[in-house]
Amino acid sequence: MASSPESRAGSDLCAAILVAAGKGLRAGPGELKQFRKLGGVPLLARCFRPFVQCGKVSHLVLVVPDPVEAKTRLSGWLPTECPVTFVAGGATRQESTAAGLAAAGDADLVLVHDGARPFVEVELILRVLEAAREQGAAVPLIPVRETLKSVDAAGLITGTVNRGAFALAQTPQGFRRVILNAALEWASSRGFSGTDESEIVEKSGHSVARVEGMTRNLKVTTPEDFEMAEKLLSDSQPDSGLRVGLGYDVHALVPGRPLVLGGVEIPHVSGPAGHSDGDLVCHAATDALLGAAGLPDIGQLFPDTDPVHAGARSLDLLARASQRARQAGFRIVNLDLVLVAEEPRLIGHLESMKANLAEAMDCAPECIGIKGKRGEGLGFAGRREGMAAHAVALMTSTGRK
Ligand code: CTP
Ligand code: MG
Repeated sequence: MASSPESRAGSDLCAAILVAAGKGLRAGPGELKQFRKLGGVPLLARCFRPFVQCGKVSHLVLVVPDPVEAKTRLSGWLPTECPVTFVAGGATRQESTAAGLAAAGDADLVLVHDGARPFVEVELILRVLEAAREQGAAVPLIPVRETLKSVDAAGLITGTVNRGAFALAQTPQGFRRVILNAALEWASSRGFSGTDESEIVEKSGHSVARVEGMTRNLKVTTPEDFEMAEKLLSDSQPDSGLRVGLGYDVHALVPGRPLVLGGVEIPHVSGPAGHSDGDLVCHAATDALLGAAGLPDIGQLFPDTDPVHAGARSLDLLARASQRARQAGFRIVNLDLVLVAEEPRLIGHLESMKANLAEAMDCAPECIGIKGKRGEGLGFAGRREGMAAHAVALMTSTGRK
């Protein structure tokens, strides 16, 4: 599980700089490569997620062509575990890295990663970080597996090269911040432009440690790479794609408060206590959806201490939760709900409640079941002190995780 920002405070922490300010020319026309969806998730979001998950990154810097536009494109995909800074990149990757470093604060260590390598794994990130901490600079390499030819400017073969003398460099590349900073200053003072950070660190006179890269950590460059990446993602999801979620809510009843259930105001002598409309049907449904989609629960996503959510209609929260579940790659199959209430009689209101829930969840009313159950005089529901709602949701993956 990802650690909280507080538990990330410490000397061995690092900033992760995701360079994603390129033009993506080789990826062809259409949406900019870094924001194009891969398995339903923007490419760049896939690239930074493992850095958040590794628990060692205290600050994420996203270097993008236009920070305002990027914030909009990535809204709903940004992590809450650590601060995120958006910064405009430069004409070259090196300038983008320099802009990212300038925004990275004073972390001892920095990791620079292509915003085009979505399959980076936590294991690799930690490996690079460890080597960078020990040796000041580290780059992941993978061996050249195919026969390597030299070619001339016209593309004609001029010879066969000893592939054992070469290796392919990947990212993330890790550095002590002062070392990368000095290398960037060195390169800028000489007008030197390297193809990656490790090159300028080497050229400026600091050795770079090698760590084992990962073949799977491919860089998405061309339309063909996008196709291959989609295939890799779907191959790694052999399960049924079905997820079940459980939601429960309970409210005490207070005389004179309105009773709103499933967005329908029902005439009654009492209603749920609390700040919100106390719509326990919506609350239970919301938690069932969020649970199935593997998202944080209603209290964490929409805390009532946040003025944005305080007083919000529960039906609106359900709609927002449903949208979040869709963004996380899930579509509702059905939702079934039991409302435990001694009174009033619900039968005449069930169809309106179903219609409201269906609209909020963007599904057909037939996908929703609501049953009223009396407490038979037993427990808090039976004594009319409160009501409870139980909901179960079945969701299916849209393959967009
Ligand atoms: N990059 C950057 N700033 C630049 C150029 C590149 O931040 N001025 C980033 C890219 O966004 C990418 C990474 O460096 O995440 C690796 O570059 P590449 O895969 O070549 O991406 P693009 O430069 O965007 O693509 P192309 O070369 O096809 O135009
Ligand atoms: Mg490029």
